[in-house]
Amino acid sequence: MFDTLDALQPKSQCVFVRGDLNVPMIRGRVADTMRLEKLSSTIHNLSERGGRVVVLSHLGRPNGIVHSLSLLPVAKTLERVLGKSVAFAEDCIGAKAKTTIERLRNGDICVLENLRFHRGEQNNDIAFASKLAENAEIYVNDAFSVAHRNHASICALPKILPAYIGINMQRELEALKKFFDNPERPVMAIVGGAKVSSKAAILENLVKKVDVLAIGGSMANVFLYANNIHIGSSLCERGSLSLAKSILRLAKDNACQVLLPQDVNVAPSLKQSEMASTKNVKHIAKDDCIFDIGRASCLAIIAHIEMSKTILWNGPLGVFEVEPFHATTVQIAKAIFAQTRRKKLISVVGGGDTVHALSKVGEKATVTHISTAGGAFLEWMQGKTLPGVLALSKPQRCR
Ligand code: 3PG
Repeated sequence: MFDTLDALQPKSQCVFVRGDLNVPMIRGRVADTMRLEKLSSTIHNLSERGGRVVVLSHLGRPNGIVHSLSLLPVAKTLERVLGKSVAFAEDCIGAKAKTTIERLRNGDICVLENLRFHRGEQNNDIAFASKLAENAEIYVNDAFSVAHRNHASICALPKILPAYIGINMQRELEALKKFFDNPERPVMAIVGGAKVSSKAAILENLVKKVDVLAIGGSMANVFLYANNIHIGSSLCERGSLSLAKSILRLAKDNACQVLLPQDVNVAPSLKQSEMASTKNVKHIAKDDCIFDIGRASCLAIIAHIEMSKTILWNGPLGVFEVEPFHATTVQIAKAIFAQTRRKKLISVVGGGDTVHALSKVGEKATVTHISTAGGAFLEWMQGKTLPGVLALSKPQRCR
């Protein structure tokens, strides 16, 4: 379905690699290098085989040129991650890009300035893509996390240049396809997060695929409410009540067991976390706010994790940034790590908050696959075909 790097002879060729260098920045410094580390496999592969590697990416959502969103500091960090020098071009098209690229020798690497400094990128403008392509011979997409965007560097470039899939994007797709198309059963999903309205399409898709669906985070509150449970002063999207009911019905029709919290950790407010206590959901008081699932609920989820062969997890189960409401997210993560380590579980974890939560667990994340994608991962979970994946698929391309 895709041409992989094995089918490519990069020696002496100028290879454009669409990566995702959209990394978290704090005071001008890269705060998390996971995306750069994942991209490094493709860059090393091409560079070691004598390709001249040119990395393309966006950073943030600029409208025109925004100096604070220059990719220069990211290119410097990439240099450290790769352990190889990385040149930088102050523009992604035109003379600056051309000169920098012409100076590259076989095996050299450079990064071009933020694609989104040009309107043509987000407009999927073929003229802009043609200007980019003037300097390239081959295109590799290794940015699954941007595959949901109909942008020039994602969808137009593979129409102009011979296109290949990068190592990380290939791994992402294999892991996600394994989960969605042909999982080893029993298969389970754990979905947390704040709003049921933003994850409704995901839940509707998942209940048709999995044997067990555990729901946590504040979005579980509306499901409890739908089951006539009083949830006190907890956050609740009451407008999504009928949505929650229809998801529960759909789950029943598809023989999917839904695990809702039986007990919860509550406090009067997040600022009063020292007053946290665990309550059965039948005993929630008027001024209680739910900030995490309780121990019994956590153990029930862990029991299912231990029975499952495949699992997908998206979204923390509580307010993991505030102690003690991080506790069950950490316990669930540890249970998934342990089963994965014992080779009893294929585990796929994704979504920005979830990946951030894993970094707080205090042990190395042992999962089969961590997706570095946010929006693209969520759209894939809804069962959507992503334009960036379609653009790379062989029958789509005119070569
Ligand atoms: C991401 O961080 O999810 C990707 O880089 C996509 O970024 P975007 O949402 O700004 O398109």
